Amino acid sequence: MASNSAMSLLLMFAFVGVCMGDVYKVGDSAGWTADGHVNYKKWSATKFFCVGDIIVFEYNKEYDNVVRVTHKNFNACNGTAPYATYATGNDSFTIKNPGHYYFISTVPGHCRAGQKVDIRAPGSLSPPDVGPSPTPSEWPSPAPSPTKSGSSHHSTTKLWLSMGVALLLCVFGIA
Ligand SMILES: *[C@@H]1O[C@H](CO)[C@@H](O)[C@H](O)[C@H]1NC(C)=O
Ligand SMILES: *[C@@H]1O[C@H](CO)[C@@H](O)[C@H](O)[C@H]1NC(C)=O
Repeated sequence: MASNSAMSLLLMFAFVGVCMGDVYKVGDSAGWTADGHVNYKKWSATKFFCVGDIIVFEYNKEYDNVVRVTHKNFNACNGTAPYATYATGNDSFTIKNPGHYYFISTVPGHCRAGQKVDIRAPGSLSPPDVGPSPTPSEWPSPAPSPTKSGSSHHSTTKLWLSMGVALLLCVFGIA
């Protein structure tokens, strides 16, 4: 049925459109802070990050910073060997590759008080692997391609939810 596949294609584009180039302000209106006990774990868990999205940290640079660290040092609140340090008070981090990105504040006590966030960006709709890609410029285009489903356990619940919703919409679309 032509209308069915057209519908699927439309949904695919809609999904990709929602997915790419979004700007997320960490903590929303609260911003990046150790005050107010913002639950950054919950904040990131309710987002669907993609390659191309921009993560914005807004904070008072007199009192805070943003430091990207390894998973291990994220867990330990250890900022002694950072990948990068940001301190302008209005910092943007663009997700260039699929992967997991960990940020903490290294102002004493802040990370332990919960000022830490991990951003997880799966690859495309059917990520074969979430690990860092060796060739950043060659990441697969999000065109509706044959879904070669690799290891599915890497995919987030949210991804499956989105696909489930898309499927449901398809079913209802032809009903
Ligand atoms: C912090 O991380 C660095 C580099 O990973 C490591 O050498 C150091 O032992 C760590 N410090 C603590 C207190 O865990
Ligand atoms: C942060 O930067 C963005 C874009 O560069 C700008 O739109 C926004 O108003 C800035 N926020 C603050 C608090 O300066």
